[in-house]
Amino acid sequence: MTEHHSKLDSPAIFCLDIFLISVACSLIGCDKPRPTAETTPNHDEAWWSYPEEIESIVPGDDPLYLVVDKGHQLPADYVPADLVTITPDIIETNKEIQVVSILLEPLRKLNAKAQADGINLSVISGYRSYQYQVKTYQHWITYNKGDRDAADRVSARPGHSEHQLGTVVDFSTDEINHTIGDAFHRTKACAWLLENAPSFGFSLSYPKGKEHETRYSHEGWHWRFLGFRAVAL
Ligand code: DAL
Ligand code: ZN
Repeated sequence: MTEHHSKLDSPAIFCLDIFLISVACSLIGCDKPRPTAETTPNHDEAWWSYPEEIESIVPGDDPLYLVVDKGHQLPADYVPADLVTITPDIIETNKEIQVVSILLEPLRKLNAKAQADGINLSVISGYRSYQYQVKTYQHWITYNKGDRDAADRVSARPGHSEHQLGTVVDFSTDEINHTIGDAFHRTKACAWLLENAPSFGFSLSYPKGKEHETRYSHEGWHWRFLGFRAVAL
């Protein structure tokens, strides 16, 4: 496939990502990303599994409402149109991060309100190519010593990540030094997002207690832009 974003997906950048995630995990004490008794539904042991039949998505022009989950897979060469880099006047980032351009204004407004409320937010992930997700998923397999079930609870397999749509951001905050992991769930930023992000058109993809529906562990940082009308429904 043509790689449109080699700078973002270069091995060096990816290694840095993984290094930062590893350092973050050791610093903030996030354990292996296994479900806890609190988050694991007891009526379906394999809530994280993939269905036997997976539908291939035929993407149109608009990535806003495409369903991308364990049952629906994007083509390896799908790259959303109109990707733009998030600049510091929009919101702080920890590296060069791209999203579809329609996210910029909602992100800017969301961040302005957060700052006014004394909440520091950053974005630590946005658009991820299929190839980047190959490496990300492989990282989680390695991190979990080859346990695919453990990886499937926290990471999408290539083509199954909403990040490939370019309409998703992972937030963090200076409260946890702009890292990722379970510690985010104990931050003021996490609580603020739950209260405020829907007003700016963002929807939490993997809420707590919905693991048997989303088939992923709770991710308080992963917000998908759906637009104002969709989120208000
Ligand atoms: N962590 C989410 C599920 C992803 O990999 O897209
Ligand atoms: Zn995410």
